[in-house]
Amino acid sequence: MAVIGTDIIKAKELLEKGQVVAIPTETVYGLAGNALNSDAVIKIFTVKDRPHFDPLIVHVANLEQVFKLAEDFPGKARKLAEKFWPGPLTILLKRKSIIPDLVTSGLDTVGIRCPNHSLTLSLLKQLDFPLAAPSANPFGYISPTKASHVNDQLGDKINYILDGGECSIGIESTIVGFDNESAVIYRLGGLSIEKLESVIGKVKIDLNVSSNPIAPGQIKSHYAPRKKLVIADPKVYIKNNPGMRTAILWFHHQDTLVQGCKHLILTASGSMEEAAKNLFSMLRELDKSDADVIVAERVPDAGLGRAINDRLLRASS
Ligand code: TXA
Ligand code: MG
Repeated sequence: MAVIGTDIIKAKELLEKGQVVAIPTETVYGLAGNALNSDAVIKIFTVKDRPHFDPLIVHVANLEQVFKLAEDFPGKARKLAEKFWPGPLTILLKRKSIIPDLVTSGLDTVGIRCPNHSLTLSLLKQLDFPLAAPSANPFGYISPTKASHVNDQLGDKINYILDGGECSIGIESTIVGFDNESAVIYRLGGLSIEKLESVIGKVKIDLNVSSNPIAPGQIKSHYAPRKKLVIADPKVYIKNNPGMRTAILWFHHQDTLVQGCKHLILTASGSMEEAAKNLFSMLRELDKSDADVIVAERVPDAGLGRAINDRLLRASS
């Protein structure tokens, strides 16, 4: 198993040697390596068992670092970074050749983000290279929001997990790119559409859902538990499937719970932020139960609710 701790110097030394280290962010834990070192980047893909056609996000300490990595930083992109970094927003920009092909899977754009977590920001400031980091889970599985989640699945493949506690947002960053001057959301995430649009106006959404990806980032089945997951009204599902051992993920508080099922409630108060924060750890818990199927209730399509529904949909594919 990996060592879990809060030693930034140790993390820094390992990263400088080209090793990978799990790092906390406000969204989910990342599996980090030197983004400018192809050997380190290969290790990331190997540990995750991730196909090379799926590009990595590059994490920076501040906005100034972008100029070393991207050919340009157009007006709207810069405005978004100024407003939301450090934070749950990844911006796709035309990449410079300093970034290995492997990081971008050969695409001419690179995803860049400045994460909002004090330990990781302090680590990034002490390094003289940016960190490539996908979520620290085996490819296709639910993203980790606690150090123990990372250790459960990748602990025998990595040396060190920097422990920053539970992720405060709990769902991956929103990914925004640009089609000429117009902003396009490629992944719904921890920054809501409403907040994005409050800064740059109407944005397009292109989630490109496909179960046969011809381009990176278009994988329909993702963020998935091992058990079958169904999105349905739990009470109706149970009535129609009486013999099934069912675990239920409710959106919010229920007065009457169905007997004999494992129940978890995303938010007692109905807060979307709380629901997003709990989503992945509750899915992991239900995945460990002895149920045959997980039934998740759809959440209202507002704020982070859209990103939660997107993850549920992919988990059910
Ligand atoms: O919140 C997050 O974004 C977390 C933390 C660790 O920062 N990272 C994360 O990385 O979720 P990952 O690798 O699990 O998901 C990144 C997604 C992938 O679906 C990938 O295809 C897409 O970003 N992506 C990365 N670079 C891209 C690019 N240049 N063009 C299109 N999609 C890109
Ligand atoms: Mg991921």
